[in-house]
Amino acid sequence: MSETTDRLASIERDALVALAAAEDDAGIEGWRTRVLGRSGELTSVLRGIGGLAAEERKAVGAEANRVKAVLEAALEGRREGLRRAALASAEADALDVTLPGRPLRRGRLHPITQVRRRILDVFERLGFQVIEGPEVELDAYNFGALRIPEHHPARDMWDTFWFEDDRVASAAAAGTSEGGAPSSARSPLLLRTHTSPMQVRFMEQHEPPIRVAVPGKCYRYEATDATHEWMLEQVELLAIDEGISMANLKGTLQEWARQMFGPSRRVMLRNSYFPFVEPGVEVAVDCFQCPGDDPSCAVCRGSGWLELMGAGMVHPEIIAAQGYDPERYTGFAAGMGVERVAMVLLGVSDIRDFHANDPRFLEQF
Ligand code: PHE
Repeated sequence: MSETTDRLASIERDALVALAAAEDDAGIEGWRTRVLGRSGELTSVLRGIGGLAAEERKAVGAEANRVKAVLEAALEGRREGLRRAALASAEADALDVTLPGRPLRRGRLHPITQVRRRILDVFERLGFQVIEGPEVELDAYNFGALRIPEHHPARDMWDTFWFEDDRVASAAAAGTSEGGAPSSARSPLLLRTHTSPMQVRFMEQHEPPIRVAVPGKCYRYEATDATHEWMLEQVELLAIDEGISMANLKGTLQEWARQMFGPSRRVMLRNSYFPFVEPGVEVAVDCFQCPGDDPSCAVCRGSGWLELMGAGMVHPEIIAAQGYDPERYTGFAAGMGVERVAMVLLGVSDIRDFHANDPRFLEQF
């Protein structure tokens, strides 16, 4: 073994180790210049071959060329390896544009909103104008103007949330500035128990003929059960005109019920009492939950009927109090519970489900 072949062997060994450590293009290029470049280690050996003894020259030349070929091949291999690794990591990071997107959860209207809109759609087609009124109301409108004076036993029909006394004084001041408010100077404030006060508020501001539908939330200090909630929505109807009779009330409500529930649901009107109507009725539909005679039925308690609303002919004293001639003008009023209607339409047997905010319930509608 000559000195030169030893040197070639160590060049080959060191170069292969260094090449394996080159991690990127710059490292590989540096290695190429150092090993194979014009002033590289191997090149200097090749250059020196000419000065060797003739018998050595052939063997060393062949060995040097072999080492050169090995290193050039190793360089190509290393380059190719790095290219593949770069490609593989790029693929791993890449976005797969063929992957389907994640579906967005769409919101929906609350079932009570859906049913309120259906109710109002029908009344609008029947010629009623939709208006709204305040949820915080004066005693004078919620009760007084509706012929329910203080201490009158009829007040027991509406369990009431009252505001505390110090809130009353400032609200009463606001009430008087509205003008036309019925003796509201010191009228206590409450959360309205029904939408009927809007009968009075609307009549104060408008002349007959009147056809209005008034949706809105009402509040009652109520022991809750399957058909009673402490907050409920109502839709109030008021029609005042010449020649309006009980037949108009019946016809309007029957046509409304037919459009809401279809022709097979049975509707009943029966005598009832509200101080602001005369005569007064209660409107009920046949029970959707039981055959109509099951005493354990939470919806009808075996009566076979679910009450949807109170109604009647507007009391002539109320018509007169608004300055209309009660001999000339008559009218009907009705106030229905939207949740009750929703129970029938959607087959819900417990009214408390509507406002319990459980998505498993709400998502069904
Ligand atoms: N306001 C009554 C209630 O909430 C219902 C009603 C409205 C009755 C209009 C008669 C006329 O109980």
